[in-house]
Amino acid sequence: MSDDDSADGAVDPRNRLNDMTGSEWTYALRSVLSTRYPTRGPEAYAHQLRRMHPSPKPPQLMAELLRFFTKAGGHVLDPFAGVGGTLIACSLEGRSGVGVDLSPEYAACYAEVCAALDMAPQPYVVGDSRRLATIPEVTARPFDLILTDPPYAQMLAKAKTGERKKRGHAEATPFTDSPDDLGNLGYWEFLAELTELLRDALALLRPRGHLVLFTKDLQPTAEHHNMLHADIVAALRELPGLEYRGYRIWHDQSQNLYPFGYPFAFVSNQMHQFILIFRYVP
Ligand SMILES: C[S@@+](CC[C@H](N)C(=O)[O-])C[C@H]1O[C@@H](n2cnc3c(N)ncnc32)[C@H](O)[C@@H]1O
Repeated sequence: MSDDDSADGAVDPRNRLNDMTGSEWTYALRSVLSTRYPTRGPEAYAHQLRRMHPSPKPPQLMAELLRFFTKAGGHVLDPFAGVGGTLIACSLEGRSGVGVDLSPEYAACYAEVCAALDMAPQPYVVGDSRRLATIPEVTARPFDLILTDPPYAQMLAKAKTGERKKRGHAEATPFTDSPDDLGNLGYWEFLAELTELLRDALALLRPRGHLVLFTKDLQPTAEHHNMLHADIVAALRELPGLEYRGYRIWHDQSQNLYPFGYPFAFVSNQMHQFILIFRYVP
């Protein structure tokens, strides 16, 4: 096969990562994904149910990542499954997923979403992902991909101030009230717990499998830049066998704009998240 063939219609037989042709592969490398997904109708994948969660991920976004980092039939773990953005994407793309989350309410919502979409649910375990090795559904066979969206330190667990408070959005929106919820930990404790959890999770990945995780930065303070994405990359690069491959940006066009800091000082309206990409080469 010539390079031209693989760039046009056929999948290169050397491609062990995904089922993409050369041109599909090239398109999937763009560093910014800018999206506005529907919140009503069949393309919303029961968003009206999933919105009971403070930050549900759009299944189409997760599907795009699944298509690059797995082949059809690939095996995927989401240890922070929430209301099932990754798991729904697995069903849409013919991958097998396993989800774990602390919250029985989110698990119940995922079950309701599957019923509404007439979709067979993927295995979903209510439990603490800091103990993945004790969960039989998770240890049965190695995963090709860990695709996940952990909490962003305490970002959602804190009451809002300033413009958001003025506009009636002052309440904190923690994922759960559990002390086991990583979203209820301070910045450095969160980073240490997430790193330990992912160190254990790597044992469940096949060699050359990928870890793809979402994160957001926090506002800088006098003490620290709070670029959580950079601190996560620095911490995970210390894990044996984990190779940092780079990031993509998800620009979420549906985010509201607030006049933060007006009229005194610059405060960023964060409309994007980082998608951090690692490969496991033990
Ligand atoms: C950003 S949300 C994930 C949202 C998900 N991607 C979705 O589409 O709904 C993070 C999730 O991590 C869960 N979580 C926090 N600490 C956990 C832990 N120790 N073990 C398992 N789940 C945890 C929270 O309950 C929350 O649902």
